[in-house]
Amino acid sequence: MNASPDFFAVFGAPPQAEASAPGRVNLLGEHTDYNDGFVLPIAIPQQTHVGLRRNGLARCRLYAQALDARIDFTLEAPPAPHHATYVYGCLLEARHAGFEIPPLDLHVASDVPMGVGLSSSAALEVATLRGLRTLLHPSLDDVQIAQLAQRAEVQHAGVRCGILDQMASSLARTDRALLLDTRSLAMREVPLPPYAELLVVDSGEPRTLAGTGYNTRRAQCEEAARQLGVATLRDVPGLQALASLPEPLRRRARHVLTENARVLQAAEGVSTHVFGALMNDSHASLRDDYEVSTPGIDRLVALLQAQPDVYGARLTGAGFGGACVALCRAGTPHRVAEAVLLAYAASGGRGRVLVPPAGDGA
Ligand code: GLA
Repeated sequence: MNASPDFFAVFGAPPQAEASAPGRVNLLGEHTDYNDGFVLPIAIPQQTHVGLRRNGLARCRLYAQALDARIDFTLEAPPAPHHATYVYGCLLEARHAGFEIPPLDLHVASDVPMGVGLSSSAALEVATLRGLRTLLHPSLDDVQIAQLAQRAEVQHAGVRCGILDQMASSLARTDRALLLDTRSLAMREVPLPPYAELLVVDSGEPRTLAGTGYNTRRAQCEEAARQLGVATLRDVPGLQALASLPEPLRRRARHVLTENARVLQAAEGVSTHVFGALMNDSHASLRDDYEVSTPGIDRLVALLQAQPDVYGARLTGAGFGGACVALCRAGTPHRVAEAVLLAYAASGGRGRVLVPPAGDGA
């Protein structure tokens, strides 16, 4: 995607810098990041692109291709439109970190699916900060970019998220998963299990409770840790330690502990079948212990899991609607998707394939 001609059309001059960042799909390690735990995301092919130039004016001007709308803002006051808060938040957090931020023209174009749990907001944040690095601040490193992006989201978009999405967008590749310890930020690349390919399907269920439900789950984890006398659930020595917790805190904590164990096992280099089984277990845990699934997602995941060419499937992202990820036998994702979406439609669901992206080997 080359946004330069469009940048010129909108702002009357070419961009001085351009940058991109991908969305991500999380393979295992859901709701573990804000508990100092382990995650295993991989980048998706879809990206967000940002073009920038210093405009010499007293304000920033942001054009979003998807909305065909331009809005102007200064760093003194947050802009109202949702997408603009992410960009504003990144620029402001970069300034707070000591980087000079002059008034800029910014052009945003993206093919990352929005609102389905594939981190379109992190892609926008990381692309913006990468653009800033190219234009002005070469010393910004990938981890620092992820940390500024996360602060932008927490401080300015109101979601008390962990660092999974921003680290994945900033550091993950599309051909290898990234094992990340969200406490130390130690990381290592992990190959996908052999003869396997990913399929990501949108359930079509809107993520209605994503904001409130997410923050409630996080508060429950913090309360569970407090009652157990540990800093975070990462520090709980084992499942037997959870016996003293009241419900639902015990179930919430059990999900976090078992999910961390699944990530670490998968990253050891297990067989494709075992990797798939860990994904299935993860879904059951998110559904029963963490209670962030929906009836539509459960139906879609069950249909995926019933396919002979699928090793495992689960919801991905925060839950409460959005997308599911399946590990399929190599070469079969399109065939699997066709069969599953037909059956899903027969039960009233309206799904669509997100990865592989349309036109990618179909
Ligand atoms: C959202 C948040 C992440 C992470 C996931 C759940 O994507 O932004 O920080 O908590 O949910 O794993």
